[in-house]
Amino acid sequence: MSGNPTSREESFLVRGGTRLSGEISVAGAKNSVLKLMAVALMAEGRTTLTNCPSISDVPAMADVLRHLGCTVEISGDTVVIDTPAEPGHIADDKAAQRLRASVCILGPLVGRHHRAVIAMPGGDAIGSRPLNWHQNGLNRLGARTRMDHGRLVAEATELRGASYELSFPSVGATETFVTAAVLAKGTSVLKNAAREPEIVDICDLLNEMGAQISGAGTSTITIRGVDELTPVSHRVVGDRIVAATWAMGAVMTRGDVTVTGIDPMFIHVVLENLRAVGADVETGPDHIRVRQEGRPRARDIRTLPFPGFPTDLQPMAIALASVSEGVSVVTENLFEARFRFVEEMVRMGVDAETDGHHAKIVGRERLDSATVWASDIRAGAGLVLAGMCADDVTEVCEVFHIDRGYSDFVGNVRSLGGDIERVPIHR
Ligand code: UD1
Repeated sequence: MSGNPTSREESFLVRGGTRLSGEISVAGAKNSVLKLMAVALMAEGRTTLTNCPSISDVPAMADVLRHLGCTVEISGDTVVIDTPAEPGHIADDKAAQRLRASVCILGPLVGRHHRAVIAMPGGDAIGSRPLNWHQNGLNRLGARTRMDHGRLVAEATELRGASYELSFPSVGATETFVTAAVLAKGTSVLKNAAREPEIVDICDLLNEMGAQISGAGTSTITIRGVDELTPVSHRVVGDRIVAATWAMGAVMTRGDVTVTGIDPMFIHVVLENLRAVGADVETGPDHIRVRQEGRPRARDIRTLPFPGFPTDLQPMAIALASVSEGVSVVTENLFEARFRFVEEMVRMGVDAETDGHHAKIVGRERLDSATVWASDIRAGAGLVLAGMCADDVTEVCEVFHIDRGYSDFVGNVRSLGGDIERVPIHR
């Protein structure tokens, strides 16, 4: 797997003026594979995951699991996790803090072993990410949760099926409740559940392992408790955010890109928006083709939980608005700090301002090349797309963020005709 640990000191140099065109396939979703790896804790023996992306978050999650006593082998796109009968329940602080998604071991550990201790993940570049709804869900199932010296401690004597209604369809809190309820006594019902395709993928894996979950992908998920799970082999669902990144890049660079390995329904709303800005979008059972001639038109976009426009594509929406004809308003409804990206676009000459949840962007024909900083995975990818629409060479710094979520980003951009190279940081 790639995921170069020194990429904190590396930048991407992106030369503007190229057009993305060609065919590209996407690997499994980051936001699924990390959770599937955690689900492997719920069954003794070897769980095999295929179609895994080569991203640095995968070895980071492997470390979290190794500290709990699992053996993890990563080979090509396959990850094999061998879980002992009694894995540990205390996540290594350093391994867990490196990976915010490590919170996804909480539900599996509490569900199977009735106890878990994890370091409270720090604040994130995209905004505060509390765990109160995760705790509430576990408490409903009969666990006791508390904060202790910066760690979240969860314990239960036994877990009993219960009903819980989320006040917001949180992805993480849905996963914690469902995974903890799978081995509880009796039936649990989660209302206002998140409907993301990655939730469906996790429930599919759990059902293949012997769980009895119905309603995944809808707002009500019902979980009938079972006594035990057995390990299986499972293929990770394709990454809709990566697929949409290439589709949006095609529109921004007036290109022609076919993306395979993705169910177009997963990005239906994104594709509708691309059609509205002027793109020609074709879809097949597991591919999309996006072509753009001429300058895209401005369009207002607001992020929402699935099936709405994903917050993870908000930086790309702002980058697209920056080169579109007219004025766009982008509204962020999930993560308050995600508009840090706008400051980077201003460095590239974009006339943009933010007010609370809204960003107003006046599009330009061509952006100014500049030195810009990736503050998170998606912001990094958005900056590279913006750099492709700039007049000269843009340096995108701190590309370790991009390596956390995109397999072979440089190779993939180049395969589509983009001019990009990875270099040691220039200062
Ligand atoms: C996941 C994704 C992330 C994506 C997000 C929304 C992973 C590893 N990450 O993050 O890429 O952007 O879904 O699609 O899958 N909240 C609370 N209390 C809680 C839980 C959440 O207030 O207990 C808030 C968060 O601060 C945020 C909102 O709910 O404002 C949505 O968060 P959530 O859906 O839980 O996102 P994550 O699971 O953290």
